[in-house]
Amino acid sequence: MNPALKKEIERRRTFAIISHPDAGKTTLTEKFLLYGGAINQAGSVKGKKSDRHAVSDWMEIEKQRGISVTSSVMQFNYEGFCINILDTPGHQDFSEDTYRTLMAADSAVMVIDASKGVENQTRKLFKVCVMRGIPIFTFINKMDRESRNPFDLLEQIEQELGIKTYPVNWPIGSGKEFKGVYDRDKKAIISFTANGGHREVEAREVDLNDENLSSIIGEENYRNIVDDIELLDGASEEFDIEAVQKGVLSPVFFGSALTNFGVEPFLENFLQMTPSPLARESSEGIIDPFDENFSAFVFKIQANMNKAHRDRIAFMRICSGKFERESEVYHVQGNKKMKLSQPQQLMAQEREIIDEAYAGDIIGVFDPGIFSIGDTITVPGKKFKYSGIPTFAPEHFARVSCTDTFKRKQFLKGINQIVQEGAIQIFTEPYTGYEEVIVGVVGMLQFEVLEHRLKNEYNVDIRRETLSYEHIRWIENPYDFDLKALTITSDTKLVQDFHDNYLLLFTSEWNIRWALERNEGLELSEFGRS
Ligand code: G4P
Repeated sequence: MNPALKKEIERRRTFAIISHPDAGKTTLTEKFLLYGGAINQAGSVKGKKSDRHAVSDWMEIEKQRGISVTSSVMQFNYEGFCINILDTPGHQDFSEDTYRTLMAADSAVMVIDASKGVENQTRKLFKVCVMRGIPIFTFINKMDRESRNPFDLLEQIEQELGIKTYPVNWPIGSGKEFKGVYDRDKKAIISFTANGGHREVEAREVDLNDENLSSIIGEENYRNIVDDIELLDGASEEFDIEAVQKGVLSPVFFGSALTNFGVEPFLENFLQMTPSPLARESSEGIIDPFDENFSAFVFKIQANMNKAHRDRIAFMRICSGKFERESEVYHVQGNKKMKLSQPQQLMAQEREIIDEAYAGDIIGVFDPGIFSIGDTITVPGKKFKYSGIPTFAPEHFARVSCTDTFKRKQFLKGINQIVQEGAIQIFTEPYTGYEEVIVGVVGMLQFEVLEHRLKNEYNVDIRRETLSYEHIRWIENPYDFDLKALTITSDTKLVQDFHDNYLLLFTSEWNIRWALERNEGLELSEFGRS
């Protein structure tokens, strides 16, 4: 194997940061970028609250047009590693793209607010990580504020998320009483000194046997940490790197992103434990990332930057080999040789055209409308396909029709186009004769995007009636049942998706259990296949 290629791929780390809004994802990302020298000033990422998406949400034009700003990627170098951070937007920007981004990552960092514990959006994103079996690292943030008991936090992660935990360090107090962490590997205390107003704190390493320790952290804290360590060493899981890499054991770190406490040790440990680009399954078996032949798959499409041309940017994750700008590639689904046009990457703040990229990297290419989510790009002569990207369960539903029935053709054309780009999902009602479509979205903003785009690009006004369904399940074995005669509650609806799969829409979890109990053998899934 070409040693230069091997070296480049080996040093890549591609991961997503997941969290519930406000847990500190942006602050932590910013600190990472600072370490990497990719930005040189705190606040460059977050800026003021009014424009807090300064670096990551780079498609400002799109934002002004009211279209959801989707996940972005940032690349930087740190201690010989080439790091790709995939950002997963939260708040109202939350969409299917957020989930799809996780398909391009080799591991995930889960940021948890120490005073809140596991929150809703973390749960959802976590499920996707588990489905992929990627390693998950936990950063318990905001220890400089009053936090929940750390043992309770770990228990909650284990119980609610179903993953074992291994605390790599352990906090000493929290809030005003936060004194630092105990590093279990070094068997040393890293002390934290609150510095009234200065945001960055200095961390100092003190040996557990240092005679001054109790005066540094306080007599009571000293006794507590000695007890805690004994408890941890006796009761917690053993560290097992294989379990970490399989995604069943999560190394946990306590710290405070804002004061930059515990961030560097976290980054260093994380980079050692997290894998270089992973092999991926394809229709012709597992593809090794070190294979010299370039291959990639499309995990996201950013639509219609220019209204007149309907142009798009397709984001692809390189899975093997090296990408070279001038080389010919092969688009498997389109059965076509081509050159990828205007390949670009985001390096911290700058979006730049690139000449080469390696397995693990994410590139965006100009798409004249030929790529779909999940498509495979290889070198001429190779025709394998990477396993598709699952369809994620929407959580908001509305019945949508066009106000002017003479425009139904444009309406269908527009809506189908938007479905192909993966921004929304549509469903029809079999056996009813209804012609309206049911639109399902992961984040509410997508409804506005749909309305805006149909009006602006297809000149169609729509009527939207919100439906009260909250859960959707794909029927895995529809042909084992007479679907017209399923025993379901009156407020459960049978629908078909874009690929003619059968699904059920439910208004509550209770109704899901009811359907499963009353229809023996019925198999329901939260993820659909395209
Ligand atoms: P997000 O991307 O996960 O949504 O969270 P973000 O980093 O934007 O952080 C949310 C809020 O939490 C911010 O405060 C941020 O300063 C604060 N924060 C992040 N990490 C820590 C930490 O370790 N300790 C403390 N005490 N606070 C932290 P904000 O008031 O919403 O914004 P700003 O006015 O500080 O910009």
